[in-house]
Amino acid sequence: MPKILAVAGSYREHSYNKRVLNIAAEGAHNAGVEVTVIDLRDFPLPIYDADLQADGAFDANALRLQDVFNEHDGFLISSPEYNGGIPGGFKNAIDWLSRSNDKYSMYGPVKGKTAALIAASPGQFGGIRCLAHLRGVFTIMGVHVLPAEVAVTFVGQKFEGDAAEMSDEKTKHILESLGSSLAGVLKH
Ligand code: FNR
Repeated sequence: MPKILAVAGSYREHSYNKRVLNIAAEGAHNAGVEVTVIDLRDFPLPIYDADLQADGAFDANALRLQDVFNEHDGFLISSPEYNGGIPGGFKNAIDWLSRSNDKYSMYGPVKGKTAALIAASPGQFGGIRCLAHLRGVFTIMGVHVLPAEVAVTFVGQKFEGDAAEMSDEKTKHILESLGSSLAGVLKH
């Protein structure tokens, strides 16, 4: 059975992107694939510095992150947009993920695999500018990014406070469909 890794680009506990991601992950799971949701808070990383890789050393949490990506066939990503781009913390994690070491070649844990992208924002553009950056970055890393993507606009109006349940059924369906599309690609 294909395995999807679901990752949100936000670290904060009540992140909208974490909640939106869970809805898409549910869509993928219901379409018959195994889904693992990880929280980047469980992979604390230093700011990438090539000197930290001197003499074959590699950050232990960065290696754990590479291992978990390596163990999966596809990726479901939901990220906030910060200042029109990828949040620094998430980009830092991606940069660590990309590096070669004694275990993996450059892009090894992700290369040739498939991803679906989501962004969610309380604003009117839904983080769509971040989606363009993410598509470019994952493409450089050899990931096939699905043409379909979702930008969830006015996301703060689609949840009651910190609740996990999305009140907007139409958006919920769009997110579930993206998850099931990714699952469908991986199953064929
Ligand atoms: C933001 N936010 C934001 N929103 C947006 O649509 N476009 C943007 O360029 C930015 N820029 C930005 C920069 C910084 C530093 C912060 C902290 C926030 C608002 C952002 O979308 C909002 O905080 C979301 O709730 C973040 O996503 P999570 O953490 O809820 O998943």
